[in-house]
Amino acid sequence: MKNLIIINGPNLNLLGKREPNIYGSLTFTEFFDTVKEKYSEIKLEYFQSNIEGDIINKLQEVGFSYDGIILNAAAYTHTSIGIGDAVKAIETPVIEVHISNTFAREEFRHQSFISPNAHGVILGFGLQSYELAIQSFL
Ligand code: DQA
Repeated sequence: MKNLIIINGPNLNLLGKREPNIYGSLTFTEFFDTVKEKYSEIKLEYFQSNIEGDIINKLQEVGFSYDGIILNAAAYTHTSIGIGDAVKAIETPVIEVHISNTFAREEFRHQSFISPNAHGVILGFGLQSYELAIQSFL
């Protein structure tokens, strides 16, 4: 059984309430429950933190044994050399995802410290971005 994990960064715990015009009105737990049911042939885990170091710790913890990591580092995407270095350091392939099309937004969102070391990048499809990333590992 394949072992995948979704890692979400800061403020993504507020999905459903946070700027629904950009991020939609579904909570991540609601979305995650339906996806877990739909892809019952894989072991799918979910981790969210607002803290940069916790995300790095989680990447190191799973990054040598899991089959795939789906990472939405949220605002840290655009600022964190530490998360970028962690993605480079680990062996498990990382798919970078974003709910919104970051290239259609402010210029500071066009920069990513994750992309250079990501296996692939999926953005702009709403929560479906996560599902497309899961499918890429099947
Ligand atoms: C985001 C895009 C980031 O620019 C932003 O800081 C987020 C969410 C997205 O999923 O669209 O928090 O990663």
